[in-house]
Amino acid sequence: MSDLSFPKLLAGLVRIISAKPRVPRALHDNPSLATILNRRSIRQFTAEPIAPQIWETILEAGRLAPSTVNLQTWSFAHFTGEQWRDFFGSPIPFQASHGVVILADTHRVRSTLPEFPDAPLSEYTMGVMNASLAAMNMVQAAEAVGLGSVMLSETGRTGFYDAAHLAEILELPRGVVPIMSIVFGHTRAKSPVMPPKLPLEAVAFTGRYLETPAEVRDNWRDQMRAGYQVTHGGEKFSAKIAYYNRRIADTERDLRRLILGKEESKKETG
Ligand SMILES: Cc1cc2nc3c(=O)[nH]c(=O)nc-3n(C[C@H](O)[C@H](O)[C@H](O)COP(=O)(O)O)c2cc1C
Repeated sequence: MSDLSFPKLLAGLVRIISAKPRVPRALHDNPSLATILNRRSIRQFTAEPIAPQIWETILEAGRLAPSTVNLQTWSFAHFTGEQWRDFFGSPIPFQASHGVVILADTHRVRSTLPEFPDAPLSEYTMGVMNASLAAMNMVQAAEAVGLGSVMLSETGRTGFYDAAHLAEILELPRGVVPIMSIVFGHTRAKSPVMPPKLPLEAVAFTGRYLETPAEVRDNWRDQMRAGYQVTHGGEKFSAKIAYYNRRIADTERDLRRLILGKEESKKETG
């Protein structure tokens, strides 16, 4: 059964297929820009392993990311596909060659500089911001050397939605929170088409906040539904949203406990 009428499905698909990065012709051949603009999340990998030195280079790109006051509030739990299966007891997603669990980590800073005030929300925000930048550096480094990757929050109990499980299995101290996993490998197929992106005019403005017009939002939602139906064999987008709603409720509870601690989280939720 379909979520969308056929004309809307078709219109959505046409928009998705015809979308291209908007850059001046003179910059079309710029290789650094290409690694940013042409990167896509890859979910199909070949069996070829990533060479150890290349893998280290990807992790190194994470290490050298920018961070608030250079505090480097991150840690990276990294695995080959085989190590992943041994450690997590399930195969690495998408048969990737390597994977990393990205951790927002303010535990190290707190142990080094105890004079920082106790401010769990600021710490969490800072940790997530900086660790996300490290994650993006790794993804870009992979792209630059011709590899593919996908960030994951929900597959195989390895991301943000499985924070409590990961905290237990990785023996994370307070202040270390899993935010995502990333798996990497040699891309099997041609790069997938760009999924529906909002137009620049909808997300960038000068001065006061600009409400996105309803028509732009409707178009975007229809494209997402169309793309989802095609890539998920007609499964309803609304079913996926319902799934995320259930996961988010559990995640919210787990994160409160991890970030605020058991006692504070009880006070917060009454
Ligand atoms: C933090 C984060 C978590 C994500 N989690 C998942 C996931 O669990 N499963 C998945 O297939 N893709 C996941 N993605 C990939 C997104 O679906 C993807 O980035 C988005 O659809 C845009 O596509 P693009 O990366 O090709 O531009 C995640 C991306 C981010 C940034």
